[in-house]
Amino acid sequence: MFVKSLGTEGAELRPLEPWQAEEFFAHMERGREFIGQHIGFADAAKDLESARRLLQGYADKAAADTGRIFGIWLDDKLVGGVLLRVMDVPQGMAEVGCWLEPAATGRGLITRAARILIDWVIRARGMHRVEWRVSSKNAPSIAVARRLGMTKDGVLRSNHPYRGVRQDLEVWSVLAPEWES
Ligand SMILES: CC(C)(COP(=O)(O)OP(=O)(O)OC[C@H]1O[C@@H](n2cnc3c(N)ncnc32)[C@H](O)[C@@H]1OP(=O)(O)O)[C@@H](O)C(=O)NCCC(=O)NCCS
Repeated sequence: MFVKSLGTEGAELRPLEPWQAEEFFAHMERGREFIGQHIGFADAAKDLESARRLLQGYADKAAADTGRIFGIWLDDKLVGGVLLRVMDVPQGMAEVGCWLEPAATGRGLITRAARILIDWVIRARGMHRVEWRVSSKNAPSIAVARRLGMTKDGVLRSNHPYRGVRQDLEVWSVLAPEWES
């Protein structure tokens, strides 16, 4: 469909669709342990069938205009992605998420990809508020929110259990006028 350069040689943002389930599952196998430290995303793609279901879920969200998912390819290898887990057009609110396999971290890929996604959701789609929800223990993800110029709204203390331990969930956000400035 389209390829968007991420400004570093060989790094591209592209749509991630159900027909790519095998490639997505192979990538999840490489990144499962790392990605699963803080989020259940990798666990939701535990085999090829569930990986396809996850992508189909996002294809359905795209069709309903309630979410999106995009992959990041580095030298033609799928290494991560960014997504709109929530996109509530009537309320003007969206939530961005992200993940990488470990070999692709430390290059600014997520920061750049998230900028493109936030730009689109605010400028093209008119969302007023974009959220980033992150476990307070997830320092690399919090660093991305900060790098994106987001503001910490607060902490939902002991919000939900993950792997048997209740998590403090930080809510970060950027508003459309802040993004434009
Ligand atoms: C969250 C996650 C995607 C962050 O990955 P990341 O590589 O730190 O993020 P980026 O791709 O934006 O890269 C930023 C790093 O690259 C460095 N970098 C290099 N060139 C850069 C550039 N041009 N622009 C920005 N950063 C750059 C930054 O300094 C930073 O490294 P540092 O943290 O050592 O200072 C990753 O830790 C991950 O996948 N975790 C598991 C899944 C997860 O927790 N997802 C988020 C749920 S809320």
